[in-house]
Amino acid sequence: MELTLNFDHDAAMPLHRQVYAELRRSILTGRLLPGQRVPSTRSLAQSLGISRTTITQGYDQLLSEGYLETRHGSGTFVCGQLPDMLLQTEAIDPIVAPTTAAIRLSQYAQSMAGNPLVLQTYPDAEISFRYGRPALQHFPIGLWRKLLSRHCNADTEWLDYALDAQGDGGLRTAIARYLGRARAVQCDPSQIVLTNGTQQGLDLILRVLTEPGDTIALEDPGYLSARKVFLSHQVKLLPIPVDESGLVVEYLTALTTASSHPPVRLLSVTPSHQFPTGATLSLSRRLALLQWAQQTGAIIIEDDYDSEYRYGDKPIPALQGLDSSDSVIYMGTFSKVLFPSLRIGYLVLPPQLVPFVAQAKWLSDRQLPMLEQKVLTDFIEAGHLESHIRKMRSHYDRRRQVLVQALQQHFGTQVTILGEKAGIHVMVRFSLDLTGAAIIARSLQAGVGIVPASPCYLADGGDRAFILGYGELEEAAIIEGIQRLAIALHSG
Ligand SMILES: Cc1ncc(COP(=O)(O)O)c(C=O)c1O
Repeated sequence: MELTLNFDHDAAMPLHRQVYAELRRSILTGRLLPGQRVPSTRSLAQSLGISRTTITQGYDQLLSEGYLETRHGSGTFVCGQLPDMLLQTEAIDPIVAPTTAAIRLSQYAQSMAGNPLVLQTYPDAEISFRYGRPALQHFPIGLWRKLLSRHCNADTEWLDYALDAQGDGGLRTAIARYLGRARAVQCDPSQIVLTNGTQQGLDLILRVLTEPGDTIALEDPGYLSARKVFLSHQVKLLPIPVDESGLVVEYLTALTTASSHPPVRLLSVTPSHQFPTGATLSLSRRLALLQWAQQTGAIIIEDDYDSEYRYGDKPIPALQGLDSSDSVIYMGTFSKVLFPSLRIGYLVLPPQLVPFVAQAKWLSDRQLPMLEQKVLTDFIEAGHLESHIRKMRSHYDRRRQVLVQALQQHFGTQVTILGEKAGIHVMVRFSLDLTGAAIIARSLQAGVGIVPASPCYLADGGDRAFILGYGELEEAAIIEGIQRLAIALHSG
């Protein structure tokens, strides 16, 4: 067992006393647990470069006070039952004095103080309509395991550092082909930088393209986690409203083309399935947006997070495919179509940005795990990705229809359903004589978890709007959840 202890050879406290004090502190603070083996005096003496006699003196003291015990033939252990008395002993003077001065934080860290971390946690409800979760129980885990083991057995090359800062070339080629087929994205594998998902993609883009104080336009309502990344870079946010045809491009152009307006560096948008309202950006607005970007020099970040799931209508080609002036960064992720902990996403960049983003990625965390990149490459190239998407689309379509029907049946004109043509969530607005907080409280009492859309809004407007995710819920649970919700919201 390795044990690192603090020693100060120049301290007034003799070394055997330091051994005693440091081990005792480790036991009292739970770093060493009751029953845990401690290193032998010989190995600790060797690893710390201190004489064995010194270590033995320290151990003897701990043995005599009941902190340690020896078991014949098997070594020395932290006493299995430490008497309470020992756990309540007085504080021990630290060997190395702790620093008491406040630690000076960077501007980046300070920006977080007013922008606290919100992990996606959801209320613990029997039926939870939490959003953003694919149906993980339908993931072909056996196939994934087979591919993992094939690469594990095949060679050992993947154990080494990568040689390519943009990510594995094979995977980039597979993604470029897939995006051409499925999303009409125009891209060469050399334009792709693989990322750890959307969050990292956004962070890298901001590192490369913005300075604190720059202006970033974004959809309102929009994706909260993206807004958090923007704020951490201390940029100014310019909220642009959204209606049933997506981002109101006329508002953006009228506001920002005036000469007095500071230039907009970036615009973040979800054109295929606006988050959270589900609107699709109309073709005329897409063209107007591209023209605006060309005129102003702004770069558009197209977040295409779940557009693979489109029901009834033809798939909407990506905005990037319409661009002819290198104004769009296309951003994709495997979090929805495969599974979120895979942490693989990608940026399709205008060629001149590639070296900068690739270097920022390399400096930040060097590379993605190689084994997962190899497995994903095979998964895509053998056609499994597209067949999984087809299978999941029909599951989600059934769940979506059941949800929409149940909402209409139980709430009729009291509910407006938005964005049900795509994705794995819908947004709903209830016209009820209840506040948003009361709706949440009542639904929780009925064992149903629903997520308010209000944090997605910068301006007012989302009070009685909710995001209902249905990806991971069985049809029976959806029906029961909406039934319970209706009873809870209609009672009294
Ligand atoms: C709008 C949007 N973009 C992207 C993502 C995926 O993020 P990531 O790739 O970091 O898992 C989500 C997840 O909920 C999302 O809602």
